[in-house]
Formats: sequence, C-alpha cells, structure tokens
Amino acid sequence: MSATLLVADRLLTCEARGGDALGSFEPGAVLFDETGIHAVGSPQDVVPLGGAATRVEHRGLVTPGLVDAHTHAAWMGSRAREYGMRMAGADYETIAAAGGGIVASMRAIRAASRRDIAETLAARLARMASLGVTTVEVKSGYGLSEADERKQLEAIAIASENAALPRVVPTFLGLHALPPEARTGASDDRVRYAGQVLSWLDGIAQEGLAAFVDAYVDRAAFSVTEVRPVLLRARELGLGVRLHIGQFADVGGAALAAEVGAASVDHLEHLSAEGAALLAATRTAAVLLPTASFTLGQAPPDVPILRAAGVSIVVASDANPGTAPTESLPLAMALAARAYGLDLTEIILGVTARAASSLGTSGGRLAVGAPSDLVLWSFEHEAELLQPWGLARARAVYRGGRSIA
Ligand code: NIG
Ligand code: FE
Repeated sequence: MSATLLVADRLLTCEARGGDALGSFEPGAVLFDETGIHAVGSPQDVVPLGGAATRVEHRGLVTPGLVDAHTHAAWMGSRAREYGMRMAGADYETIAAAGGGIVASMRAIRAASRRDIAETLAARLARMASLGVTTVEVKSGYGLSEADERKQLEAIAIASENAALPRVVPTFLGLHALPPEARTGASDDRVRYAGQVLSWLDGIAQEGLAAFVDAYVDRAAFSVTEVRPVLLRARELGLGVRLHIGQFADVGGAALAAEVGAASVDHLEHLSAEGAALLAATRTAAVLLPTASFTLGQAPPDVPILRAAGVSIVVASDANPGTAPTESLPLAMALAARAYGLDLTEIILGVTARAASSLGTSGGRLAVGAPSDLVLWSFEHEAELLQPWGLARARAVYRGGRSIA
C-alpha cells in the first residue's frame, strides 16, 4: 500500500490556523495513504517526509471531501407533478390532500424492494461523489411502518458497504409523517404512532441500522411532547439526535434539542434569539437547507441571530423529491451565498469540518490522523465552488485514500 505525496497550488485544511479560519496553504502538500493523513502543510515541511511516496502535482485547489449532513437520498419514484402544483401556488396541505407529499414517497418505498432502493441510492451517491462529496447523511422516513423503515435502513446499509461510494451516516426518521393506516381522525393519532416508532427503536439500534434518530417537529408535523420519548430512548441506546425544526413555525424545537442533547437542528426558518442562544450553549449545530426554502418560496433563516449567538452553521442539500429536488450540495452552497448571505468561509466550513463534527465523524478536515477524504478541484480558489452553478468540477475525489470519482 503506497503513500501519495500530493503537492497543490492551494490547499485548505479547514482547521483554523492563526487568523485563517480555512487553514490555507499556498502552495500546500499532503501525505496520505489508505490508513489516513500522515502530514499536511507547506511543501517545505511535508515533502521531506514523503520517502517512497508517489508524488502528484496538482495545478489547482485541494480541499477535504465535502460532507452533506442532511439528505433523504434513499428515496424512490418522482414527485414531479406535485412540483408543478407547488409552483402554481398549492401549499403543503393541498398537495398532501391530492395524494402528494411525504406519503407519496412512502408509497414508492413500500412498493420497492430493498435491492432496488439500495441500487437507486448507490447511483445517487455516485453522482454526489462526482460533485466532490465524500460523506452523506441519509435518512429513512419514507417507510413509516416497522417493516418498511427497516427495509429502507437496510438498503442504506447495503449502499454504505460499497467503499467506492461516499461514506454514509444512517439516520432513522420514523417520525417524519403519520402514515395513512395510523390516521383515525382521533386527537391522539400522533401519540399512538410515536409509541409504535418507540417500539421499533431498540431493534434498529441493536442491529446498528442507525447512528442518529431524527424527528420532524413542526406545526403540521409532530409536537415536542409527541417525539420526546423516542428521542430520550435514542439517547439511552447511544444514538445521536438530529431534528427538523422551525421549517414552518417555532414550536419549541430548540429547547427540546437542548434537553435531549441533539447534535443538530435543521431548517430553522423560524427560530427566536432565545432558541439560538440555547443552541450555542449546548453546542448544537444549525443545519441550514437553502434548497428547501428556495423551493417553498420562504424567507431565509435569521442568520444574524445564529452568528451573534455563536452557533456552528452547517449547509446541506436536504436532497429529497419534494422540497429539495436536487442531489447537489454545491447548489445548496450557491444558494447559501445568494439567498442566505453566508460568506465563503462559513459555507466552506459548513460543508466540511462543521458538517463532519455535527455527524460525529473525523472527516471534513485535512489533518494528521483524519481519513484520506479529499478533492482535487479543476480551479484554483474556493470562490469557484459557488459559481457557475450546477457543474461537476472535481478532477479527482478520494475516499479513504482511494479514488472514487
Ligand atoms: O426536509 N420537512 C420535512 N421533510 C423534508 C421533506 C421531505 C419530503 O417532502 O419528502 C424536508 O424538507
Ligand atoms: Fe429534511
């Protein structure tokens, strides 16, 4: 197993160095093999350590592999007609009443085999890799029964075994929507369904099918009280918690996140200054999803209150067939700049080191001991990552020291 000594015109470690939050070296060098990164810094420090390593010169930028910390990438089917309705002004409730929404994707997952879901996800992950992404969080949440949630999680596990694809972090999102069979019209439908989800959790945790548990906490989704028992049990079982909160209304999700020690809260179009302060105090990451608010025609989250409170900001694609019909983290980055006003440093850290930290992984940075996940870009400066939109311009993508795109 031979090492590679990569010397590049510009390199970002994404670990702060002095006043340089991106930890840039120009030129820069990194010595790595399949076991991890052995040295990184300026060529004068790293090249002498290279020994018999194969030397590669890159006339361009090198960054850590990108980390997409919020996706529903294991979806099946299409909701293109629903998109047309949405663009014509239909709201969530109207779309759901016409048979669209999360339940439409649920039907597609229930009709698919585990193998089909795994193959569809694998193809999607390969396309994400071509955009420079080396780690993808993937949620279930379109099964909504024990057998179908497990099927979706098992498909995610199958795709995650393929070392030629990005790394996968699996999240169990049973509390995504109320499935049709749980709808009796009674006021406690959601409580009873949450009780079922709770009963599935131990088995899912014991089989290692999920690293995190997520729940959709909102006005037209689940309440804090309904989801709390599932989240508390998840923590007892050693799982992390991520939450969809504040997409349509602030129903107390930040306080719940603080209570259960959530790793992240995601969306946040509606969040108070007190909520932001709680997130900062509990070191809960804020995962912003600009493609979703763009699709829904929503105002952006209050980025200044997140900044003022010192919350760690992450940017993710939300890849899903309803509110974020894209697989492109670079598109989310472009919208984070244009629509949310995040600056370049916030965006780069939000798709590398901060995204990885929110997932509890050591990727997202070029540092000794970190995995050899890195991207050789076909341009010289990270500003090029924000435009032009929608192009794959990674010249080479390494996961664990092996080329995957
Ligand atoms: O992150 N808000 C809830 N969940 C997804 C939408 C999923 C879907 O519409 O299929 C979201 O926006
Ligand atoms: Fe989502």
